[in-house]
Amino acid sequence: MAVVDRRSSALPVPYAVELPDRLRKERYFHPDFYQMEAELLWRRTWQMACRLEEIPQPHDFAEYEILDQSVVVVRTDDGGVAAFENACRHRGVKVAQGRGTCESGFICPFHGWCYGPDGRNTFVPRKKTFAEHNLRPQDLDLTPVRCEVWGGCAWINLDDDAPPLRQCIEPFATILDAWKVESMRAEWWYACRLPVNWKLAEEAFMEQYHVVEAHPQLVIPGMRYSPGQSGIDTRAVIDAEIRYLRTMSEGMAGMVHAKDVRIAEGLRDMELPADPTEAMSTWHRTLNDEVVRWHRAEGSDIPDLNDLEARGLNEPMAYCFPHYFVLPMYSSASSYRFRPLGPEETMMEIWSLTRFPAGHEPETPAPPELWECDDPRWPPIPAQDFSNLPRQQKGLHAKGFEYLRLSEGVEGGMSNFERMVDGFLAGLPHESLLPALHSINVNPLEQPVVDLGLRGGFRS
Ligand code: FES
Ligand SMILES: [Fe+2]
Repeated sequence: MAVVDRRSSALPVPYAVELPDRLRKERYFHPDFYQMEAELLWRRTWQMACRLEEIPQPHDFAEYEILDQSVVVVRTDDGGVAAFENACRHRGVKVAQGRGTCESGFICPFHGWCYGPDGRNTFVPRKKTFAEHNLRPQDLDLTPVRCEVWGGCAWINLDDDAPPLRQCIEPFATILDAWKVESMRAEWWYACRLPVNWKLAEEAFMEQYHVVEAHPQLVIPGMRYSPGQSGIDTRAVIDAEIRYLRTMSEGMAGMVHAKDVRIAEGLRDMELPADPTEAMSTWHRTLNDEVVRWHRAEGSDIPDLNDLEARGLNEPMAYCFPHYFVLPMYSSASSYRFRPLGPEETMMEIWSLTRFPAGHEPETPAPPELWECDDPRWPPIPAQDFSNLPRQQKGLHAKGFEYLRLSEGVEGGMSNFERMVDGFLAGLPHESLLPALHSINVNPLEQPVVDLGLRGGFRS
């Protein structure tokens, strides 16, 4: 592939999205497309690199790998977080592996060059044997990588020209700040190897169109209630809602936390107004208030859920391009991160997040081993999602299959995501990408196709 000058005008994108409701299949396996993503997308975007509870103490570090790049994220002496390219300045050996604590710094295992936790080179064995031009101080320190902290996570960006983190991840950040996501902690952390393209994997979680067929247990009769509907048995609707919460909780092994399901069950027989609309709104408000009251009594930091509701922020999913999701429900959340391992291979990680009283946070879960997508240990709902993906990746290769056809009504979020990818592959400048990012860093589940302002910018 030709070397790309990203300052030049928009580049032609192969297999670009020409019609917003059609996605060419080559986007999901063609090696050239994948290579363009590696160079023009993954090297230019903010990425969630680790959860902060992985590196609680000064000198704790966590390695973050994306494609062929490895970055080491370190907790500094002042409690901040820094990141470096994970490559010894002598002959390139990775100075850190996995997760751990570097007591006084990193020692390269090959010839013993030493670096402080701040990345500064502190020792070169037999220094006098090197020529002067190979020992310029600025060439000896680990190469810094941009790193910022938000939402209980450290984020990195390999592009020195990118705008600051917060600018790039709005309105995702503002929505989840209101949820106080930074005070959540991981209860468990699993990882899956999916034999599919990373975009295909993400898109399985960007729409709800699949729920009826793929997750039939979530279709609970009598649960849907529209205000004003007459002849409604509110007790039956509430029972159905509680059943739904329990099924979600068990199906995700979290997200709707078992603690919150118990709170809902405790309210089952509460007194309710006779009018069904009033009864349902009383039920929803009371459940929110009771969850908040219970967690605050425990000593946990939790936002006022009815206030979130009033501000229109009570959405069940928040997405941050290119690879991070948070799905908040009542006190808790599930969180996803996707990373490409090859054109047709992806790692998906799932964290179950919840709140704990200050000082009673659990041990940080160990970095997960990569389970196969049909591993029996997966909770039922992700297992159902995973079961379709390998079949879909295979199906895409069918000779006569040209493109994925989307419903503008219920699959708009996918289209917006794919056209955002094209904006990056066109090498557009950050100032053009930023407004588009702001359009897609929202809940994609019911999002219509939106104009990202990139149209024409990436057409050849
Ligand atoms: S490669 Fe690191 S000391 Fe030689
Ligand atoms: Fe699903």
